[in-house]
Amino acid sequence: MKRITIRKGFDAHMHLRDGVMMSDVLPFTTNQFAGGVAMGNLPGNEVLDSFEKNLAYLEKIKALAPSFNAVVPLMVTRELLGRASYIVKTALKHGIKVFKFIPAGLTTNGAEGLTLYDLYTNPFTELLEELEENGIIFSCHFEVGTSRIHDDAPVQMLWQEQEAIRFLQYLLEVYPKLKIVVEHASSYAMIYFIEKLPEKYQVAATLTPHHAIVNYWDVCNPDGNIYEPLKYCKPVAKQEQDINVVKLAMCSGNPRFFAGTDSAPHLYGIKLSQKSAGIFSAPVAMQTYTEIFEQLGRMEYLENFTSVFGPQFYGFQPSDEKITLVKEQERVASSLYDIPVFRGGDVIPWSIIK
Ligand code: DOR
Ligand code: ZN
Repeated sequence: MKRITIRKGFDAHMHLRDGVMMSDVLPFTTNQFAGGVAMGNLPGNEVLDSFEKNLAYLEKIKALAPSFNAVVPLMVTRELLGRASYIVKTALKHGIKVFKFIPAGLTTNGAEGLTLYDLYTNPFTELLEELEENGIIFSCHFEVGTSRIHDDAPVQMLWQEQEAIRFLQYLLEVYPKLKIVVEHASSYAMIYFIEKLPEKYQVAATLTPHHAIVNYWDVCNPDGNIYEPLKYCKPVAKQEQDINVVKLAMCSGNPRFFAGTDSAPHLYGIKLSQKSAGIFSAPVAMQTYTEIFEQLGRMEYLENFTSVFGPQFYGFQPSDEKITLVKEQERVASSLYDIPVFRGGDVIPWSIIK
């Protein structure tokens, strides 16, 4: 039977939530990943935008999974801006290497009142200067909800990432040494833009399993309304051309692209009633990545994508622990702990040897 043994992965983007849900979902991540970046937009509008909150959250993860190499970014909010030099110094003192920015209104619990347009103005510019100078990673959700070129007209979901490329372009012009992670890149335009960047720029992108599989038209109607909330996430799934480019970038062996599942658990009831954005992919993430690499005939690049390029960008040694996947069919549970699971009910070709 076909099998592959590689270093355990690094999930450079995931949501572990808090409390009971954290203890429920964390084992699915630690089962396949030796470390990862746990995002700080928590349930109930809680955001990890202070050192106290950030460090306490890291402690909670460590208490549940002591050997997991967890990175918890500091979330950029209005609260945090305005004291850039102090904030960055203190962050460094506490070993915080990443600041995460989720613009308002674009997904679950974004930074209230701040959008990508704020990147152009003080106090954001001061923060960006400090991040650049101190080698701190700026992890960013690049989507824009309104277009100022068109009198603040709303941008359709399908194009919100593509429209945000100009903000990345601006960052590179003004802060050429800034380390940037474009989170969950999902559009061919964004991916091509990153691929074509000169080597001197320190820009990378996380790629999710779901953006390599789910099609926009399985989620939304032609009028843009969501008809399948279980497949809804942000950035919204794209079209066939984008899906192909995501897969090609994933399997390209280019160190700018690495695994970040954006596994984002939401309870069934909330997902259906509120159409909350997020796909819980942790239980099938490595299996899905492996399937895609096999499909494209690039198995030899899998380990770099899942387990080496991410840690390298973040400045860690890749894990020495191993994980083995075997080509043995498995039916995915539809839900776990009342959380709908990505590919739930499907039979998938790869499974993890426990
Ligand atoms: O679909 C998403 N869900 N995208 C994000 O960026 C955030 C996430 C969440 O927190 O649920
Ligand atoms: Zn996310």
